[in-house]
Order: sequence, then C-alpha cells, then structure tokens
Amino acid sequence: MMETSMSANPISIRIRPSENGSVVNPNVYGHFAEHLGRGIYEGLWVGEDSLIPNTRGLRNDVVAALRELNIPVLRWPGGCFADEYHWKDGIGPRERRPSLINTHWGGVVENNHFGTHEFFDLCEQLGAEPYVCGNVGSGTPQEMMEWVEYITSDAESPMANLRRSNGRQKPWKLRYFGVGNESWGCGGSMRPEYYADEYRRYNTFVKNYSGNQVYRIACGANSGDLHWTEVLMERAGRHMDGLSLHYYTLCDGWPPRGSAIEFTEEEWGKIVRSALDMGRLLNEHIEIMDRFDPEKRVGLIVDEWGTWFECEPGSTPGFLYQQNGIRDAVVAALTLHIFHTRADRVAMANIAQLVNVLQATILTDGERFLRTPTYWVFEMLKGHQGGTTLGLDFDVPTCEVAGISIPALSVSATRNRAGETLASFANLDIANDREIEFEAQGSDPVGRLLASSSMLGHNTFDAPDAVSPRPLELRAEAGRVRFELPRHSVATIRFCA
Ligand code: AHR
Repeated sequence: MMETSMSANPISIRIRPSENGSVVNPNVYGHFAEHLGRGIYEGLWVGEDSLIPNTRGLRNDVVAALRELNIPVLRWPGGCFADEYHWKDGIGPRERRPSLINTHWGGVVENNHFGTHEFFDLCEQLGAEPYVCGNVGSGTPQEMMEWVEYITSDAESPMANLRRSNGRQKPWKLRYFGVGNESWGCGGSMRPEYYADEYRRYNTFVKNYSGNQVYRIACGANSGDLHWTEVLMERAGRHMDGLSLHYYTLCDGWPPRGSAIEFTEEEWGKIVRSALDMGRLLNEHIEIMDRFDPEKRVGLIVDEWGTWFECEPGSTPGFLYQQNGIRDAVVAALTLHIFHTRADRVAMANIAQLVNVLQATILTDGERFLRTPTYWVFEMLKGHQGGTTLGLDFDVPTCEVAGISIPALSVSATRNRAGETLASFANLDIANDREIEFEAQGSDPVGRLLASSSMLGHNTFDAPDAVSPRPLELRAEAGRVRFELPRHSVATIRFCA
C-alpha cells in the first residue's frame, strides 16, 4: 500500500475572465433505464398491488430520491432490448399483455407490465423528458410510425384512438426519438453504409403529429469506430438532429473485468485512464462531425456511458448488477467534466443505468434501497445543468498509481444565469490529499465533499450513508477560498458573484 500525504503547495486555480464558454446542455445529466435485470422491475416498477409504497405501481422511495437529481431526460426501453421490443405488447390491460422471454438479458420472463403508459407516467413523476428508442433490428417502419402516432397524435386516427381506449385522452409530448440502438451489434449487426440507408428509411416514417416536433437521433458509433461516424454524417447527416456514441469505462478492454468494489491500485489507475479516453473519443468524433456540419446543428448524444465490471458475486448472470463505490463517483465527476469541455457539441449524455444495472444511481434489495456514490455526484453537480463553462487556469498535477501515470485533479466550473458559480473537483489520486486555492470573487461560498477513508469505500444496505456528502470546510481569504481535497474524493463549491 502506498503512503499517503498532503502535497506541500496549494494548487492555485484562477478563472479566466475574458473567456466565454459554451452552455452545458442540461441533457448531459441524462439517464437510461432498460428492461434489464432488476433495472425496471423491482428497481422502479413494483406494481400497484405491491406492499412497497408506490404511486400507480412506481415505487415512491426511488422516485422521490431520483426527483432530487433534476433528471432532464430518460432513455428507454433499451439498449439491446429496444431492437426486440414490440410496443403493442406493452399497452392495454396488464393481465392481458403477453409474457415473452428477454433473450438479451438472462432469458427471464418479461411480462410487459411496464410499457408506454407506465414509462410516460414515470417521466411525469420524475419531471424528466422521455427519450424513446425505436426498434429497427426486428421491427418495421410501420411499427415505428404507429408508436409515434400512438404517443403524440391528437387526431381521430387509429393509433390515437387506441391510446384513448387505453385511458389516455391527450397525447404526450415526445421530443427525443432514437432510430435503433447499436445497429452495428445487438441491434442488427449492420455495416454503416447499410444502416445509413435504413436510418433514412425508418426516419421518413417518424412523423411530427399534432405540433409535436421529434428530435431524431441516429445510432452512432461503438467507442473508437470513426468510420461509422464518417459514413453516417456523410450519408444521413442532414436527416438527423443527433448522432449517438456509446463508450464504457473498462478495466482491461472488452469483456468487462474486475469488481466495482474489490480492486487493486493498478485497477484504479486503469479505470481512470479508461475514463479519460472519453475526452479523446469526443474530440475525434467531433472533428469528423465538424467537417460535415460546421454549424454544429447535429448534437453528439453519448446515450450510454459509465463503468462496466463483472457482475456482483451471487447476482443473477445477465442482470449486470454491480456495486458502486467512491471510484465510480470519481469516474462520474471526471466524465461529466469531460462532457463540459465539449459542450459545444455534446447535446445529451445518458449514464448506464438508472437503478440496479451497471453504474447505477440507486440499488435496491426488495423493499430496501440506497443511494450510490454515483447518485451523490449527480446530486452535487446538478447545478452545472444549463450553466456556461468558465475558463480555468491551473497547472494540472500528475501522479503515478501502481506505475500508471494519470492527472491527479479534474476541475470544472460553470456560471448560471443568476450569477452563481459552481465549481466541482475530483481528486483522482489515491495517495495524496491536495490543498486547493480557488478564485472566488463572490460571497457566501458553500462547499460539499464526497469522500471515503478507503478507495474501496461504498454504501451497503446496512450502512446506506457511509459514502454521502458532508460540508467541506472552506477558508475564505480576499477573493479566494482554500480547502483540502482528500485523496479519491469529489467536492463542490458554490458562490454568488
Ligand atoms: O447498457 C447495457 C447494454 O450495453 C445495452 O443494452 C447496449 O446498448 C450496450 O451494449
């Protein structure tokens, strides 16, 4: 084990006054919920007859906790599940909906009790915009067209009337619609040239009904597949509003290895390096998008990101259930900071996934639930939503973790329309606490800290608040605040100009 210490000199961070940054699209703080494992069933949906307190089948404890995150947008029903989902199975009286096998995720029975009406109810309860992903892989353009009609049309039309017969008179608003998921893989194993044509064909039948305007998202690349982005932008760029990108933080490449909470120092270093790769990937894909779309009309939609480890021992194979620790929190803050740096093009991002799956914000165990360290990062950083990024001047310290060289610090700051500045900090080092001096030309600075005495720190159902925010002690000096940023921690400071 390395010796830990406090570095001698404070790291001085100044705001560059003349630099106008980009606005952080609130949707960068978006989430994703798939029919996978206990993500929907148990995690969000317990049914109206459950002993777990619920509102129309949606569990109250989880919804109340999620409301605190100001979730701007929620993607559903997949993921891989989206391209085998037939939406008509998930409407009408629940007892008459067909039960099917979820072939992607554990081969379990999917009873379709959570469908379109339940998803829109969830979004309304959360105050989130729905983002629906349509089925290209095993569906038809007609099925996709009818789904959008069912959701959004106010006309006397067959699908609008079907919706009314299922109890919903008024159409919902549906802004974000994805035309297929991972069409290069589980969504159909297509080549980009073929998918570009399929995208154009399916998208033609995604209509704007009754004043609803759909923001059309094409399936984008698998991490470093720049050829996919190039072909899509060239052949279908003018038909889309957004192009997606999927990138997961992995310990040693694919397949996922290691544990979320039992890992070595070397694995800490590898995970941070993998998370940092998001910055390189954004730059490379955006460089291609800029060539075809210099006005930046098409948004980059990182609609799947997060850590992916081996399933928690004892959990059901295929359910992608993993614990979540302070390392995940540091990765979440670092990744959100990276998105801020490309706020000029990144229009949305959706961490995978909301509850009980991969880098989740909430874990449940029957009627028990806990907020993960990742949850707290989204809660502490939510004030960045809609803020304008500020240029920062500081020397980025580096450190060695088990021989792996990484930056020791990640910082981002935004200012909102009310003149409030929020700065967030992640100490990526596991050995050194850092003294930070941050320029704060304003009043009433307030600091919060998410830290753990161990790099393995996490919450359990018996100790659900072990890793949770506490006040950060600030020392205010003329126009500056100083504070100690412990190793492997995330902190925020907020002040008014
Ligand atoms: O988030 C889990 C899976 O990862 C999604 O279903 C798929 O799109 C991706 O490969």
